[in-house]
Amino acid sequence: MKPLCSLQWEKDTLVILDQTGLPSHISYLRCHTCEDVATAIKKLSLRGAPAIGVGAAYAMVLAAIQAKKNKLTGDALREYLAKAAQMLRASRPTAVNLFWALSEMEHVIEKTPEEQLTEALLARAAAIHEEDRRTCEKIAQNGAMLFQKREALSLLTHCNTGALATTGIGTALGVILQLHKEKRLANVYVDETRPLLQGARLTATELMAAGVPCQLLSDNMAGYVMRLGRVDGVIVGADRIAANGDTANKIGTYALAVLAAYHEIPFYVAAPYSTFDFSIETGREITIEQRDPDEVRWFNNQASAPPDVPVFNPAFDVTPHELITAIITEKDVIAPPNSETISVYERSLSHDNIHN
Ligand code: MRU
Repeated sequence: MKPLCSLQWEKDTLVILDQTGLPSHISYLRCHTCEDVATAIKKLSLRGAPAIGVGAAYAMVLAAIQAKKNKLTGDALREYLAKAAQMLRASRPTAVNLFWALSEMEHVIEKTPEEQLTEALLARAAAIHEEDRRTCEKIAQNGAMLFQKREALSLLTHCNTGALATTGIGTALGVILQLHKEKRLANVYVDETRPLLQGARLTATELMAAGVPCQLLSDNMAGYVMRLGRVDGVIVGADRIAANGDTANKIGTYALAVLAAYHEIPFYVAAPYSTFDFSIETGREITIEQRDPDEVRWFNNQASAPPDVPVFNPAFDVTPHELITAIITEKDVIAPPNSETISVYERSLSHDNIHN
């Protein structure tokens, strides 16, 4: 079965797979404006840090097309585009890929003459899209090499880091798919990932479609399967990685890392360069998105709690770098992740043209 694809550019339109309906409903949102894309990101129709970055890049092309239709030029044009970028930045505050992609697009706006702007923005968005696809492939290769000496591996993953969260084969899930291709995988435990079930709805769907042996767990079962000795490694994605390796990812990741440390199970993060935020020293500086309380009060369109019960609903948590065995990137594996090893990685990126 052909994997579902998170987004596609089709002549002045960004077509987004609406992930909120999966796995039961497959439907697409045809976005003609930057506002359409910002709404899709807010509602998690388009989600997963790398996919959000690519979507935001195309949203800036849509903004330039709108500006052209409105015959905006000079300062009015630049102001319009700056507002569009600001609106997109506000759509989700934690995943730094969004901010990275927008600053890439702003760089194009700064250096391009007005008459060539739409084409230049589209070229950069398409390049970011293609880079994401290639980056996923490289992460998968580097990650699978980490497990070189092992067969019949049993891994545990959280949330969704596959084709739906990126525009390639995925990050952590890309590594899993590569291990499956090499016939070295016995089982993948998939955390359902409360409250919005990205693990159950999306990861389980992707793994089943690819024929990967997997078992779904509710999040509170992870400790028990580790205790039973059934997990050889935990592998997750990331939404933002600080300069010392502290990693923000889907809520529940930190608890998994603590469990993994207690059970002496390696804990891996897989992420591309666009997920690193070298401007912040530690994870304490990462803004954690707080979401609608009803995501927790409701389950499957039914109230599962008193309608007015106060709720704490952070979308992400931060795993301190000491709990992370290695970060798998498109270049190599950073092990152990800390300020020194990450600054070596940062320096190596500046020699790469993937970043320019
Ligand atoms: O709220 P979501 O579904 O966007 O959260 C996604 C995650 O936390 C992923 O693990 C992360 O974005 C990495 S995706 C390759």
